[in-house]
Amino acid sequence: MTISGTVFNFKNLNSIFVAMILVTGGTGLVGAHLLLHLLVNGETSVRAIYRNPKQIEKTKSLFQKANHLELFTHIDWMQADILEVPSLELAFQGVDYVYHCAALISFDPNEEQQLRKVNIEGTANIVNFCIDYKIKKLCHVSSIAALGDLNQNQHIITESTEWNPEVLHSDYAISKYGAEMEVWRAQQEGVAVVIVNPGIILGAGFWNQGSGLFFTQIKKGFPFYTLGTSAYVAVQDVVVIMRKLMNSDCNGERFALVSENKSYKQIILSIAEAIGASKPKINATEFLLNIAWRLDWFFSKVFRTKRKISKHGAISLLNTDMISNQKITDYLNCNFEPIEDCVRRLAKEFKEK
Ligand SMILES: NC(=O)c1ccc[n+]([C@@H]2O[C@H](COP(=O)([O-])OP(=O)(O)OC[C@H]3O[C@@H](n4cnc5c(N)ncnc54)[C@H](OP(=O)(O)O)[C@@H]3O)[C@@H](O)[C@H]2O)c1
Repeated sequence: MTISGTVFNFKNLNSIFVAMILVTGGTGLVGAHLLLHLLVNGETSVRAIYRNPKQIEKTKSLFQKANHLELFTHIDWMQADILEVPSLELAFQGVDYVYHCAALISFDPNEEQQLRKVNIEGTANIVNFCIDYKIKKLCHVSSIAALGDLNQNQHIITESTEWNPEVLHSDYAISKYGAEMEVWRAQQEGVAVVIVNPGIILGAGFWNQGSGLFFTQIKKGFPFYTLGTSAYVAVQDVVVIMRKLMNSDCNGERFALVSENKSYKQIILSIAEAIGASKPKINATEFLLNIAWRLDWFFSKVFRTKRKISKHGAISLLNTDMISNQKITDYLNCNFEPIEDCVRRLAKEFKEK
Protein backbone atom coordinates (compact mmCIF):
# COMPACT_ATOMS: atom_id res chain seq x y z
CA MET A 1 0.00 0.00 0.00
CA THR A 2 1.37 3.46 -0.91
CA ILE A 3 0.54 6.67 0.95
CA SER A 4 1.92 9.90 -0.59
CA GLY A 5 4.57 8.01 -2.46
CA THR A 6 5.95 6.04 0.53
CA VAL A 7 5.46 2.31 0.80
CA PHE A 8 3.31 1.62 3.85
CA ASN A 9 3.83 -1.81 5.27
CA PHE A 10 1.18 -3.01 7.71
CA LYS A 11 3.94 -4.90 9.54
CA ASN A 12 5.31 -1.49 10.59
CA LEU A 13 2.25 -1.19 12.78
CA ASN A 14 3.81 -3.80 15.05
CA SER A 15 6.79 -1.58 15.72
CA ILE A 16 4.60 1.37 16.78
CA PHE A 17 2.27 -0.83 18.81
CA VAL A 18 3.12 -0.58 22.50
CA ALA A 19 2.23 -3.67 24.47
CA MET A 20 0.37 -3.06 27.71
CA ILE A 21 1.60 -4.96 30.75
CA LEU A 22 -0.54 -5.68 33.81
CA VAL A 23 1.12 -6.43 37.15
CA THR A 24 -0.90 -7.82 40.07
CA GLY A 25 0.57 -7.54 43.56
CA GLY A 26 2.40 -4.31 42.67
CA THR A 27 2.24 -3.18 46.30
CA GLY A 28 4.10 -6.29 47.50
CA LEU A 29 7.79 -7.21 47.53
CA VAL A 30 7.97 -8.97 44.15
CA GLY A 31 5.43 -6.80 42.30
CA ALA A 32 7.05 -3.53 43.42
CA HIS A 33 10.55 -4.66 42.42
CA LEU A 34 9.15 -5.98 39.14
CA LEU A 35 7.49 -2.63 38.37
CA LEU A 36 10.79 -0.86 39.02
CA HIS A 37 12.66 -3.33 36.80
CA LEU A 38 10.13 -3.03 33.95
CA LEU A 39 10.14 0.77 33.94
CA VAL A 40 13.91 1.12 34.31
CA ASN A 41 14.24 -1.19 31.32
CA GLY A 42 12.12 0.95 29.06
CA GLU A 43 8.62 -0.51 29.35
CA THR A 44 6.30 2.45 28.88
CA SER A 45 2.84 0.99 29.21
CA VAL A 46 2.56 -0.60 32.62
CA ARG A 47 -0.58 -0.95 34.70
CA ALA A 48 -0.65 -2.17 38.31
CA ILE A 49 -3.56 -2.99 40.56
CA TYR A 50 -3.86 -2.02 44.20
CA ARG A 51 -6.50 -2.46 46.90
CA ASN A 52 -5.59 0.21 49.42
CA PRO A 53 -3.98 3.49 48.25
CA LYS A 54 -1.83 3.52 51.41
CA GLN A 55 -0.01 0.39 50.22
CA ILE A 56 1.19 2.15 47.07
CA GLU A 57 3.48 4.26 49.26
CA LYS A 58 5.83 1.29 49.80
CA THR A 59 6.25 0.91 46.04
CA LYS A 60 6.74 4.66 45.70
CA SER A 61 9.52 4.71 48.30
CA LEU A 62 11.25 1.85 46.48
CA PHE A 63 11.31 3.97 43.30
CA GLN A 64 12.44 6.97 45.36
CA LYS A 65 15.32 5.06 46.95
CA ALA A 66 16.39 3.91 43.49
CA ASN A 67 16.30 7.56 42.29
CA HIS A 68 13.55 6.77 39.79
CA LEU A 69 10.60 8.65 41.23
CA GLU A 70 9.84 10.08 37.77
CA LEU A 71 9.28 6.52 36.47
CA PHE A 72 6.82 5.82 39.28
CA THR A 73 4.45 8.42 37.80
CA HIS A 74 4.28 6.39 34.57
CA ILE A 75 2.51 3.50 36.30
CA ASP A 76 -1.20 3.35 35.55
CA TRP A 77 -2.55 2.38 39.00
CA MET A 78 -6.07 0.91 39.07
CA GLN A 79 -7.99 -0.16 42.13
CA ALA A 80 -8.89 -3.85 41.81
CA ASP A 81 -9.13 -6.95 43.94
CA ILE A 82 -8.39 -10.30 42.30
CA LEU A 83 -11.50 -11.62 44.03
CA GLU A 84 -13.73 -8.91 42.56
CA VAL A 85 -14.49 -9.70 38.94
CA PRO A 86 -15.96 -6.29 37.91
CA SER A 87 -12.86 -4.42 39.13
CA LEU A 88 -10.60 -6.90 37.32
CA GLU A 89 -12.59 -6.51 34.11
CA LEU A 90 -11.67 -2.82 34.00
CA ALA A 91 -8.04 -3.57 34.85
CA PHE A 92 -7.76 -6.01 31.92
CA GLN A 93 -8.92 -3.50 29.25
CA GLY A 94 -6.23 -3.20 26.57
CA VAL A 95 -3.79 -5.53 28.35
CA ASP A 96 -1.41 -7.80 26.38
CA TYR A 97 0.87 -9.37 29.03
CA VAL A 98 0.16 -10.27 32.65
CA TYR A 99 2.55 -10.80 35.55
CA HIS A 100 0.53 -12.35 38.38
CA CYS A 101 2.36 -11.64 41.65
CA ALA A 102 -0.62 -11.07 43.97
CA ALA A 103 -1.14 -13.72 46.63
CA LEU A 104 -1.71 -14.23 50.30
CA ILE A 105 1.33 -15.55 52.17
CA SER A 106 0.37 -17.00 55.51
CA PHE A 107 1.30 -20.02 57.57
CA ASP A 108 -1.51 -19.50 60.07
CA PRO A 109 -3.80 -22.59 59.89
CA ASN A 110 -6.71 -20.29 60.81
CA GLU A 111 -6.33 -18.61 57.40
CA GLU A 112 -6.85 -21.76 55.35
CA GLN A 113 -10.08 -20.55 53.75
CA GLN A 114 -8.66 -17.13 52.89
CA LEU A 115 -5.51 -18.73 51.42
CA ARG A 116 -7.57 -20.95 49.14
CA LYS A 117 -9.79 -18.05 48.16
CA VAL A 118 -7.07 -15.52 47.30
CA ASN A 119 -4.52 -17.89 45.83
CA ILE A 120 -6.72 -20.39 43.99
CA GLU A 121 -9.96 -18.49 43.29
CA GLY A 122 -8.04 -15.24 42.70
CA THR A 123 -5.72 -16.96 40.21
CA ALA A 124 -8.73 -18.61 38.55
CA ASN A 125 -10.19 -15.12 38.00
CA ILE A 126 -6.91 -13.91 36.49
CA VAL A 127 -6.79 -16.98 34.26
CA ASN A 128 -10.39 -16.49 33.09
CA PHE A 129 -9.62 -12.93 32.03
CA CYS A 130 -6.40 -14.03 30.34
CA ILE A 131 -8.45 -16.50 28.28
CA ASP A 132 -11.32 -14.08 27.53
CA TYR A 133 -9.05 -11.17 26.62
CA LYS A 134 -6.68 -13.39 24.60
CA ILE A 135 -3.69 -12.29 26.67
CA LYS A 136 -0.42 -12.98 24.83
CA LYS A 137 1.39 -14.40 27.85
CA LEU A 138 0.90 -14.92 31.58
CA CYS A 139 3.85 -15.12 33.97
CA HIS A 140 2.70 -16.55 37.28
CA VAL A 141 4.65 -16.37 40.53
CA SER A 142 4.32 -19.63 42.38
CA SER A 143 6.67 -20.93 45.09
CA ILE A 144 9.04 -23.76 45.89
CA ALA A 145 6.23 -24.78 48.28
CA ALA A 146 4.27 -25.93 45.21
CA LEU A 147 7.05 -28.19 43.91
CA GLY A 148 6.80 -31.92 44.49
CA ASP A 149 7.69 -34.30 47.30
CA LEU A 150 10.75 -36.54 47.39
CA ASN A 151 10.63 -40.27 47.86
CA GLN A 152 12.87 -41.90 50.43
CA ASN A 153 16.57 -41.72 49.52
CA GLN A 154 16.01 -38.73 47.21
CA HIS A 155 17.45 -35.38 48.30
CA ILE A 156 17.04 -32.91 45.46
CA ILE A 157 13.72 -31.46 44.35
CA THR A 158 13.38 -30.36 40.72
CA GLU A 159 10.52 -28.93 38.63
CA SER A 160 9.50 -32.45 37.65
CA THR A 161 9.39 -33.88 41.18
CA GLU A 162 5.81 -35.02 41.59
CA TRP A 163 3.39 -33.58 44.14
CA ASN A 164 2.25 -36.29 46.55
CA PRO A 165 -1.21 -35.53 47.99
CA GLU A 166 -0.57 -38.08 50.78
CA VAL A 167 2.22 -35.92 52.24
CA LEU A 168 1.37 -33.28 54.86
CA HIS A 169 1.57 -29.84 53.18
CA SER A 170 0.96 -26.38 54.57
CA ASP A 171 -2.28 -24.67 53.52
CA TYR A 172 -0.08 -22.11 51.75
CA ALA A 173 1.61 -24.87 49.70
CA ILE A 174 -1.74 -26.43 48.79
CA SER A 175 -3.09 -23.04 47.72
CA LYS A 176 -0.02 -22.31 45.55
CA TYR A 177 -0.24 -25.80 44.00
CA GLY A 178 -3.94 -25.18 43.30
CA ALA A 179 -3.07 -21.83 41.71
CA GLU A 180 -0.62 -23.57 39.37
CA MET A 181 -3.42 -25.93 38.26
CA GLU A 182 -5.41 -22.86 37.22
CA VAL A 183 -2.42 -21.56 35.24
CA TRP A 184 -2.09 -24.88 33.39
CA ARG A 185 -5.79 -24.50 32.54
CA ALA A 186 -4.95 -21.17 30.89
CA GLN A 187 -2.31 -22.94 28.80
CA GLN A 188 -4.80 -25.59 27.72
CA GLU A 189 -7.08 -22.77 26.60
CA GLY A 190 -4.37 -21.32 24.37
CA VAL A 191 -2.70 -18.72 26.60
CA ALA A 192 1.12 -18.86 26.65
CA VAL A 193 2.19 -19.31 30.27
CA VAL A 194 5.33 -19.54 32.33
CA ILE A 195 5.56 -20.22 36.06
CA VAL A 196 8.40 -19.28 38.39
CA ASN A 197 8.85 -21.09 41.73
CA PRO A 198 11.12 -18.91 43.86
CA GLY A 199 12.66 -19.94 47.15
CA ILE A 200 12.43 -17.52 50.09
CA ILE A 201 12.80 -14.14 48.41
CA LEU A 202 15.17 -11.63 50.00
CA GLY A 203 14.60 -8.01 49.09
CA ALA A 204 14.67 -4.47 50.40
CA GLY A 205 11.90 -2.10 51.40
CA PHE A 206 9.36 -4.51 52.87
CA TRP A 207 10.80 -5.08 56.33
CA ASN A 208 7.51 -5.80 58.09
CA GLN A 209 6.34 -8.65 55.88
CA GLY A 210 7.61 -11.87 54.31
CA SER A 211 11.35 -12.41 54.49
CA GLY A 212 11.82 -8.77 55.61
CA LEU A 213 10.66 -10.04 59.00
CA PHE A 214 13.88 -12.06 59.26
CA PHE A 215 15.79 -8.78 59.54
CA THR A 216 13.24 -7.10 61.81
CA GLN A 217 12.95 -10.05 64.20
CA ILE A 218 16.68 -10.78 64.34
CA LYS A 219 17.35 -7.11 65.10
CA LYS A 220 15.03 -7.45 68.12
CA GLY A 221 17.15 -10.38 69.31
CA PHE A 222 15.81 -13.69 68.00
CA PRO A 223 17.25 -16.48 70.17
CA PHE A 224 16.53 -19.60 68.05
CA TYR A 225 17.89 -21.34 64.97
CA THR A 226 17.28 -24.75 63.43
CA LEU A 227 19.44 -27.07 61.35
CA GLY A 228 16.76 -27.50 58.67
CA THR A 229 17.35 -25.92 55.27
CA SER A 230 15.50 -23.78 52.79
CA ALA A 231 16.24 -22.23 49.41
CA TYR A 232 16.89 -18.49 49.01
CA VAL A 233 16.96 -16.04 46.13
CA ALA A 234 17.35 -12.26 45.74
CA VAL A 235 14.27 -10.40 44.52
CA GLN A 236 16.34 -8.70 41.77
CA ASP A 237 17.18 -12.10 40.31
CA VAL A 238 13.51 -13.11 40.44
CA VAL A 239 12.24 -10.09 38.52
CA VAL A 240 15.05 -10.13 35.95
CA ILE A 241 14.30 -13.79 35.19
CA MET A 242 10.54 -13.17 35.05
CA ARG A 243 11.00 -10.50 32.38
CA LYS A 244 13.45 -12.65 30.41
CA LEU A 245 11.02 -15.57 30.44
CA MET A 246 8.13 -13.31 29.49
CA ASN A 247 10.09 -11.97 26.52
CA SER A 248 11.24 -15.43 25.42
CA ASP A 249 9.45 -18.14 23.45
CA CYS A 250 9.16 -20.23 26.60
CA ASN A 251 5.65 -21.60 27.06
CA GLY A 252 4.23 -24.21 29.43
CA GLU A 253 7.28 -24.50 31.69
CA ARG A 254 7.96 -23.87 35.34
CA PHE A 255 11.32 -22.94 36.84
CA ALA A 256 12.60 -23.14 40.42
CA LEU A 257 14.38 -19.85 41.20
CA VAL A 258 16.99 -20.55 43.82
CA SER A 259 20.39 -19.06 44.43
CA GLU A 260 21.44 -21.35 47.28
CA ASN A 261 20.08 -23.85 49.77
CA LYS A 262 21.10 -22.84 53.27
CA SER A 263 20.33 -23.94 56.80
CA TYR A 264 18.24 -21.62 58.95
CA LYS A 265 21.26 -21.48 61.26
CA GLN A 266 23.49 -20.18 58.44
CA ILE A 267 21.01 -17.57 57.26
CA ILE A 268 20.08 -16.33 60.73
CA LEU A 269 23.73 -16.06 61.78
CA SER A 270 24.62 -14.23 58.54
CA ILE A 271 21.83 -11.70 59.02
CA ALA A 272 22.62 -11.22 62.72
CA GLU A 273 26.27 -10.58 61.91
CA ALA A 274 25.50 -8.26 59.00
CA ILE A 275 23.07 -6.06 60.97
CA GLY A 276 25.11 -6.18 64.18
CA ALA A 277 22.47 -8.03 66.23
CA SER A 278 23.13 -10.63 68.89
CA LYS A 279 23.53 -14.12 67.47
CA PRO A 280 20.87 -16.73 68.24
CA LYS A 281 22.24 -19.42 70.53
CA ILE A 282 19.44 -21.94 71.01
CA ASN A 283 19.12 -24.86 68.62
CA ALA A 284 15.36 -25.40 68.26
CA THR A 285 15.33 -29.19 68.15
CA GLU A 286 12.35 -31.35 67.20
CA PHE A 287 11.49 -31.62 70.89
CA LEU A 288 11.42 -27.82 71.38
CA LEU A 289 9.53 -27.20 68.14
CA ASN A 290 6.89 -29.74 69.12
CA ILE A 291 6.35 -27.86 72.36
CA ALA A 292 6.40 -24.52 70.52
CA TRP A 293 3.63 -25.27 68.03
CA ARG A 294 1.42 -26.75 70.74
CA LEU A 295 1.92 -23.71 72.99
CA ASP A 296 1.31 -21.41 70.04
CA TRP A 297 -1.94 -23.26 69.27
CA PHE A 298 -3.00 -23.00 72.94
CA PHE A 299 -2.28 -19.26 73.24
CA SER A 300 -4.00 -18.52 69.93
CA LYS A 301 -7.14 -20.19 71.30
CA VAL A 302 -6.99 -18.42 74.67
CA PHE A 303 -5.95 -14.95 73.48
CA ARG A 304 -7.33 -15.18 69.93
CA THR A 305 -3.93 -14.24 68.52
CA LYS A 306 -2.56 -15.05 65.06
CA ARG A 307 -0.72 -18.40 64.91
CA LYS A 308 3.04 -18.00 64.54
CA ILE A 309 4.02 -21.63 64.12
CA SER A 310 1.88 -24.53 62.96
CA LYS A 311 2.57 -28.26 63.21
CA HIS A 312 3.58 -28.28 59.55
CA GLY A 313 5.72 -25.16 60.06
CA ALA A 314 7.60 -26.92 62.87
CA ILE A 315 8.25 -29.96 60.68
CA SER A 316 9.41 -27.85 57.73
CA LEU A 317 11.93 -25.98 59.92
CA LEU A 318 13.78 -29.30 60.27
CA ASN A 319 13.46 -30.40 56.64
CA THR A 320 16.77 -30.73 54.79
CA ASP A 321 15.55 -31.25 51.18
CA MET A 322 17.49 -29.29 48.56
CA ILE A 323 16.02 -27.51 45.53
CA SER A 324 17.89 -27.57 42.21
CA ASN A 325 18.29 -24.46 40.04
CA GLN A 326 19.73 -26.43 37.13
CA LYS A 327 16.77 -25.96 34.79
CA ILE A 328 16.74 -22.15 34.86
CA THR A 329 20.54 -21.77 34.82
CA ASP A 330 20.68 -24.03 31.75
CA TYR A 331 17.71 -22.34 30.06
CA LEU A 332 18.81 -18.73 30.48
CA ASN A 333 22.51 -19.33 31.10
CA CYS A 334 22.16 -17.12 34.17
CA ASN A 335 23.87 -16.71 37.54
CA PHE A 336 22.29 -15.86 40.87
CA GLU A 337 23.56 -13.35 43.40
CA PRO A 338 25.23 -15.34 46.21
CA ILE A 339 23.10 -15.18 49.35
CA GLU A 340 25.92 -13.91 51.59
CA ASP A 341 26.37 -10.91 49.22
CA CYS A 342 22.62 -10.35 49.13
CA VAL A 343 22.36 -10.42 52.94
CA ARG A 344 25.22 -7.92 53.31
CA ARG A 345 23.65 -5.59 50.71
CA LEU A 346 20.24 -5.77 52.37
CA ALA A 347 21.71 -5.34 55.86
CA LYS A 348 23.20 -2.03 54.69
CA GLU A 349 19.80 -0.85 53.47
CA PHE A 350 18.09 -2.15 56.61
CA LYS A 351 20.48 -0.22 58.86
CA GLU A 352 19.93 2.95 56.82
CA LYS A 353 16.13 2.78 57.02
N1 LIG B 1 8.17 -13.46 49.66
C1 LIG B 1 8.64 -14.68 49.49
O1 LIG B 1 9.60 -15.10 50.19
C2 LIG B 1 8.06 -15.58 48.43
C3 LIG B 1 8.70 -16.80 48.17
C4 LIG B 1 8.21 -17.62 47.14
C5 LIG B 1 7.11 -17.22 46.42
N2 LIG B 1 6.47 -16.05 46.72
C6 LIG B 1 5.32 -15.68 45.90
O2 LIG B 1 5.64 -14.46 45.27
C7 LIG B 1 4.45 -13.70 45.05
C8 LIG B 1 4.64 -12.31 45.58
O3 LIG B 1 4.95 -12.40 46.97
P1 LIG B 1 5.42 -11.13 47.79
O4 LIG B 1 6.56 -11.54 48.64
O5 LIG B 1 5.54 -9.97 46.88
O6 LIG B 1 4.14 -10.97 48.73
P2 LIG B 1 3.66 -9.68 49.53
O7 LIG B 1 4.78 -8.74 49.71
O8 LIG B 1 2.91 -10.18 50.71
O9 LIG B 1 2.63 -9.01 48.50
C9 LIG B 1 1.42 -9.64 48.18
C10 LIG B 1 0.72 -8.77 47.15
O10 LIG B 1 -0.51 -9.41 46.79
C11 LIG B 1 -1.54 -8.45 46.89
N3 LIG B 1 -2.81 -9.08 47.17
C12 LIG B 1 -3.11 -9.95 48.16
N4 LIG B 1 -4.41 -10.28 48.10
C13 LIG B 1 -4.93 -9.60 47.03
C14 LIG B 1 -6.23 -9.53 46.46
N5 LIG B 1 -7.26 -10.21 46.97
N6 LIG B 1 -6.41 -8.73 45.38
C15 LIG B 1 -5.37 -8.03 44.87
N7 LIG B 1 -4.13 -8.05 45.37
C16 LIG B 1 -3.92 -8.85 46.44
C17 LIG B 1 -1.10 -7.55 48.03
O11 LIG B 1 -1.85 -6.36 48.00
P3 LIG B 1 -2.07 -5.43 49.31
O12 LIG B 1 -0.86 -4.54 49.38
O13 LIG B 1 -3.31 -4.73 49.03
O14 LIG B 1 -2.15 -6.37 50.48
C18 LIG B 1 0.36 -7.38 47.68
O15 LIG B 1 0.51 -6.45 46.65
C19 LIG B 1 3.33 -14.48 45.72
O16 LIG B 1 2.68 -15.23 44.75
C20 LIG B 1 4.05 -15.41 46.68
O17 LIG B 1 3.31 -16.57 46.90
C21 LIG B 1 6.94 -15.20 47.69
